[in-house]
Amino acid sequence: MNFLVIGNGGREHAIIWKLAQSQKVEKIYCTLGNAGISNLAEVININVDDFNSLLKFAIENKIDYTFVGPEVPLALGIVDVFNAKGLKIFGPSKKGALLEASKSFAKKFMQKYNIPTAQYHTFTDFNLAKNFFETSWPKSKKVVVKADGLASGKGVIMCQNRQEALLAIEEIMQNKSFGTAGNTIICEEWLEGQEISVLAFVDGKHFSIMPAAQDHKRVGDKDTGLNTGGMGAYAPTPIATKELLNKVKNEIIPNIINGLQNENIDYKGVLYIGFMIDDKGTPYVLEFNCRFGDPETQVILPLLETDLVDIVEHVISGTLDNLNIKWYKKSAVCVVLTSGGYPQKYEKNIKIFGLNSIKENEAIVFHAGTKKDKAGNILTSGGRVIVLTSIADNIKSAIDKVYSVTQKINFDKMHYRKDIAQKALKWIKK
Ligand code: AMP
Ligand code: GLY
Repeated sequence: MNFLVIGNGGREHAIIWKLAQSQKVEKIYCTLGNAGISNLAEVININVDDFNSLLKFAIENKIDYTFVGPEVPLALGIVDVFNAKGLKIFGPSKKGALLEASKSFAKKFMQKYNIPTAQYHTFTDFNLAKNFFETSWPKSKKVVVKADGLASGKGVIMCQNRQEALLAIEEIMQNKSFGTAGNTIICEEWLEGQEISVLAFVDGKHFSIMPAAQDHKRVGDKDTGLNTGGMGAYAPTPIATKELLNKVKNEIIPNIINGLQNENIDYKGVLYIGFMIDDKGTPYVLEFNCRFGDPETQVILPLLETDLVDIVEHVISGTLDNLNIKWYKKSAVCVVLTSGGYPQKYEKNIKIFGLNSIKENEAIVFHAGTKKDKAGNILTSGGRVIVLTSIADNIKSAIDKVYSVTQKINFDKMHYRKDIAQKALKWIKK
């Protein structure tokens, strides 16, 4: 089989790493790829929103399956375009991708189908939003203000009080900091607790959940500093107790699937549910993503025993109920090595040393923002540069293993968090 994978980050490297292990796969192409991906796949140069060129490429190169990594092409409707030409593609339709691409759509969906989430208000008019905060919002009450549309994970402003909320709505609705993504805003009750990510394969009717993961969004140790795309993750997380997962499997996801069917949404692919778990263990949905998470994928796929191609086939044919998906009973921890300065300004084109010094039984080296120069040197080309994933019998051993090799890689101004997965150890001790 021939695969075309769309995307160029650590998530796509992990997807391709897993696909490449399948006996069924003959050739993998990737657009736009990175230096690590180019060792496993033929990297091509078509923009992820250039659907005509992607279609032409898929037809000419006899692609059996296209696998979409990031949300933007899904939100633009790549799946509908490929399906209309009879091509097989892994991911939800444009309408399904609205669960991620429009927070107001997702919130309405949650309310309608009885999915627990924070209380909220929606506004499309700045003056109405301003008036709401000035007259109905207690001065010192916290609130979360969100741009409705896609904003690369940056469209959420955590406000400590009314004053900050007024600044946030001005930033989003008047200064248009996130462009048209901020034409509509959501103002949401601030929830406290532990955040976890539960991902599931969904074939439209059936689902199968993956080991629950925990991301680390802040740039600094002990969750300090700015929010990033994710500085590290681990799975499975002990915060997802058996009781909690039963609630997710028996109530929350069945309600979501029922809602999707009721709204005539063809959802085939990965559904990512971001949960906040409060101190009583009650889960609230913070967000949906319509794709694999990054860096969660880099800890989830190394735990997958089943051939990913089998899963892709069953998801697309709507027969996930006939497949017994198996996971290794191990733990995985990943640490993201970033460019100094990320998530703000950082330099690119810095030479990376030591990539070949790590053996696969120590850590898997996934590339995120890397490229090769003409001389064959590997250079940085993004904020998140390399992701190291170690697997062991338990979380503690996986943490020790990954941190024993992080120093083997270096590049000028390299930064990484030293405390990935410590939350799991604290939780276990509780
Ligand atoms: P979202 O893109 O909606 O998941 O928001 C991004 C991040 O903002 C989440 O991963 C949380 O860390 C935080 N966040 C979003 N909504 C809330 C909320 N209602 N209460 C507390 N934190 C939130
Ligand atoms: N790790 C968060 C995301 O993929 O959106």
